[in-house]
Amino acid sequence: MPALQREVARLLGVREPVEKRVYIETYGCQMNEYDTERILRLLKGSHYLETKDAQEADFILINTCSVREKPEHKVYSALGRFKWLKEKRGAIIGVAGCVAQQEGDRLLDRVPYLDMVIGTHAIPMLPQLLQKIEFFGQRVCETGFDPEGNYLKTILPQKPLDKVKSYVTIMQGCDHFCSYCIVPYVRGREKSRSSREIIEEVEHLAEMGVKEVCLLGQNVNGYGKGLEEEIRFPGLLHRINEIEGLHRIRFTTSHPADLSGELIQAFSKLPKLCEHIHLPFQSGSDRILKAMHRGYTKESYLEKIDCLKKACPSIALTADVIVGFPGEEEKDFEETLDLLKKVRFDDLFSFKYSQRKGTRAAQFMDKVEEKVKQDRLSILQEIQKGITLQKNQELEGRVEEVLVEGRSKQSDQDVTGRTRSNKIVNFEGNLELLGKLVYVRIKKACPHSLRGEITSAQDPSICNLRSAIYNM
Ligand code: 5AD
Ligand code: SF4
Repeated sequence: MPALQREVARLLGVREPVEKRVYIETYGCQMNEYDTERILRLLKGSHYLETKDAQEADFILINTCSVREKPEHKVYSALGRFKWLKEKRGAIIGVAGCVAQQEGDRLLDRVPYLDMVIGTHAIPMLPQLLQKIEFFGQRVCETGFDPEGNYLKTILPQKPLDKVKSYVTIMQGCDHFCSYCIVPYVRGREKSRSSREIIEEVEHLAEMGVKEVCLLGQNVNGYGKGLEEEIRFPGLLHRINEIEGLHRIRFTTSHPADLSGELIQAFSKLPKLCEHIHLPFQSGSDRILKAMHRGYTKESYLEKIDCLKKACPSIALTADVIVGFPGEEEKDFEETLDLLKKVRFDDLFSFKYSQRKGTRAAQFMDKVEEKVKQDRLSILQEIQKGITLQKNQELEGRVEEVLVEGRSKQSDQDVTGRTRSNKIVNFEGNLELLGKLVYVRIKKACPHSLRGEITSAQDPSICNLRSAIYNM
């Protein structure tokens, strides 16, 4: 509270609100990271400030993911870790996110020291729920779905941000119902935010120093469905591209079946749209894709990749893949390997199939043995490791535009940033470069990053696109 306001409050006998601390642990996807940020913005209004140290927190919230078994188990071990803080300091303990949505009251039954379960649509209710706990000692559970979409309402940050990039959710939920996936059950059906609210948020972020936004949605290609206004995802991208002060736009995730020609063309038309797409394929076998209910074939996926490469030859490609889906035989797995060799992804996120309660695939009988799944995952990851390194090596000697994001983890003399193709680059430099676009010559490719050297903007060998359009 500013001094004058504090003095007025004192004269009026108003007690200053006590500032409290909130600690949030976040698991899972970028959407959870964004939700955590929204929760922090919301809680500032209730005088909760963020702490990175759970031991000094008055409120501990675990923002959970249930998309696979591993992140789901983390929730219970985290709750175990925080039990003593409840006993020692009386901290309020809550669970948010997909596990909260899925388990609801069962979580309260199972964990006696848990105070709050808050589902994916209930975030705006958080301050009221906290009051119920603080003032009435109630244990609370809120997991209703909200068809009005209030959970998507904008919560703007209050002060300049100390970061150069930010997520912005543009839609949430999914209508695809892939047979293995829990998302439609825990995030609900597809619901888009109005373009006006999104634009306002991005403009506000740009004014606060954000240079890059990543637009989030479980299926961004479905953006606009159900809105009163006539707008689709490529239209939204065009409008965000106009926002002053913003340098870069990314988005995730796209569904291959919904990837339109217009969106593909956006990569060649919009200067701020970075040359990278994350396009999960999940399997290279048509039989398995059908059982997964994915709505495309290996061939049609490869055709889309071809169109992307034609529209934007420098485009970087990443994807998700699942091995060991029920019924997957050796020849199906071979098809997956064939697809990844044909596309040559820049990077790949690979998972063993994990049975999710309530999904259709949970009822499929022909489960794949754990050992087979593990072996297939290891083979696939080994092949991809080679491809990723080769793709990185192809950049050696080239000059890339890099947005400087901060100090490098490895050395105090170095800063770190990403290329337009989303590759991490470390190079010598100081923090005055933070938030700036610079040109970096790639000297050495490592398995997960690149090492470079800053060079001039006028370097004639600049080979990445759109070099001239930004202020240095
Ligand atoms: N088992 C394994 N992987 C899964 N994914 C989603 N559901 C499952 C599951 N049941 C993976 C998919 C998806 C990514 C976010 O997580 O590859 O694209
Ligand atoms: Fe899950 Fe499929 Fe929707 Fe992706 S498209 S969120 S995998 S149901």
